[in-house]
Amino acid sequence: MKTFKNKTILITGASSGIGEAMVYQLRDPSVKLLLVARSEDKLQAMVEALERQGVWAQAYPCDLAQPGAAETLFRRLTDDGYRVDVLINNAGFGKYGRFDQISLTDTLEMLRLNIENLVALTHLCIPHMLERGDAGILNVASTAGFQGIPYMAVYAATKSFVISFSEALHAEYADRGITVTCLCPGPTATAFQERAGMPVEGVRRFMESAEKVAIAGLRALLRGEVVHVSGASNAVVARLSQLTPRRVRLAVTRQLLGPHDDT
Ligand SMILES: NC(=O)c1ccc[n+]([C@@H]2O[C@H](COP(=O)([O-])OP(=O)(O)OC[C@H]3O[C@@H](n4cnc5c(N)ncnc54)[C@H](OP(=O)(O)O)[C@@H]3O)[C@@H](O)[C@H]2O)c1
Repeated sequence: MKTFKNKTILITGASSGIGEAMVYQLRDPSVKLLLVARSEDKLQAMVEALERQGVWAQAYPCDLAQPGAAETLFRRLTDDGYRVDVLINNAGFGKYGRFDQISLTDTLEMLRLNIENLVALTHLCIPHMLERGDAGILNVASTAGFQGIPYMAVYAATKSFVISFSEALHAEYADRGITVTCLCPGPTATAFQERAGMPVEGVRRFMESAEKVAIAGLRALLRGEVVHVSGASNAVVARLSQLTPRRVRLAVTRQLLGPHDDT
């Protein structure tokens, strides 16, 4: 896929952070932007702002952590006459803490949002993409997906899933007109850390802006990259961690992320 021009683009997690930054990068009179998140008011305000700039947008408020949400959303889009050319699976959240101290409700919601409904939306959109060709899927994972992360065990595992899933789909669909790219941001200045309940003091100065990450991800999709780590230092750290023995990298991560009062 060489351009976003004339495409119908579905973005999940469009109401803030990286997704919102992608929406603003994709503003163009030739595209149709379909915006998904839970915050209806925020999405509606974005749609009105986009329309004032001559950009076609429609809000689809939806809680993608609920079972069956992707099917309901897809039915609404299809009933409204849309066929998705570009799917940006960006919505996601993490929870910080020892595994047994994170509620099962939060844990299962993470699995449904970060994995289940991402897979379901992808599955539902691909048949139309195959018919029309020149399509793209951008899945937002994380550098946390390259290894087990103590105190973010489930979140990191969901992102490992997204990386592995995206790599495989890239190979399956590359010569069938669908580019599949996985974006792996490192720490990024968004609402993510607050929702995760993570300590940010030590990390804040290494954070990239959502805008930088959004630009890197959209470019990577147009270039047809398989996996793109945003930010040069994140790419180096990700590479080094692959070369470090598992035991060592787990001990270092535990030391860096472990709560001071963990016993
Ligand atoms: N920030 C980081 O450091 C970082 C690093 C690596 C990867 N990432 C990944 O980047 C992606 C975007 O996160 P972000 O950093 O931009 O965080 P963010 O500012 O918290 O944005 C998350 C987006 O997802 C939406 N969302 C959350 N729960 C949802 C649900 N149940 N159903 C539908 N939409 C939902 C949120 O909107 P509503 O609240 O309105 O639903 C929001 O638009 C995530 O997949 C995250 O894992 C972030």
